[in-house]
Amino acid sequence: MSGLIQYYVASSVDGFIADADDGIDWLLQFGFEAFQERYDAFLAGVGAVVMGSGTYAYLRRESPDSWGYEVPAWVLSSREQPTIPGADIRFASGAVPDLLDDIRASAGGRNVWVVGGGAVAAQFHAAGALDELHLTVMPVVLGAGTPLLPIGDGPTPPLALTRSEVVGPGAVGLVYGLTG
Ligand SMILES: NC(=O)c1ccc[n+]([C@@H]2O[C@H](COP(=O)([O-])OP(=O)(O)OC[C@H]3O[C@@H](n4cnc5c(N)ncnc54)[C@H](OP(=O)(O)O)[C@@H]3O)[C@@H](O)[C@H]2O)c1
Repeated sequence: MSGLIQYYVASSVDGFIADADDGIDWLLQFGFEAFQERYDAFLAGVGAVVMGSGTYAYLRRESPDSWGYEVPAWVLSSREQPTIPGADIRFASGAVPDLLDDIRASAGGRNVWVVGGGAVAAQFHAAGALDELHLTVMPVVLGAGTPLLPIGDGPTPPLALTRSEVVGPGAVGLVYGLTG
């Protein structure tokens, strides 16, 4: 039995996950405390994570001496990437449908968290494999930046809202079903 593939992400009100300078200070200004419970509940179901090389570069830049994931982490890149000692990081390249079986297997029946960015999540969506969007809408408008989910074949049918909650200082947590 395999778990779900879930895109858990925070965006601005106008749908960007990073600003025009590829930064997320607009997100970090809110701190983690108010979001910790929601994050911990989500993380409890996660068996593997997937991210693009841009997100990997950001994480290495911000925390060069530590790695935040205890589960297998897939980093998608067409280029050779630096490794992190002691971290279970699997570098992969190519079409998402060709990688899906291995990614799912690495999660051991638990869920797969697509960390980002948006274009990586869009590849899972295009493959019909993105089951849920776990979105935290932050109360800030950016005007430009990296889009949340740049799918090529929109608009989608109306998404199924399965959960909504106010989180912390004016943010809203939403869970949408995308498949089935
Ligand atoms: N707000 C949030 O919650 C949130 C969450 C995640 C990330 N972010 C932010 O978003 C930004 C990163 O997003 P991004 O869209 O710029 O980058 P990204 O999606 O992390 O990485 C994109 C890169 O990954 C590689 N890649 C993607 N799919 C691939 C595939 N199928 N095969 C091989 N390589 C593949 C490509 O680079 P190469 O092939 O050249 O390596 C591509 O340019 C960062 O600023 C990060 O902090 C924010």
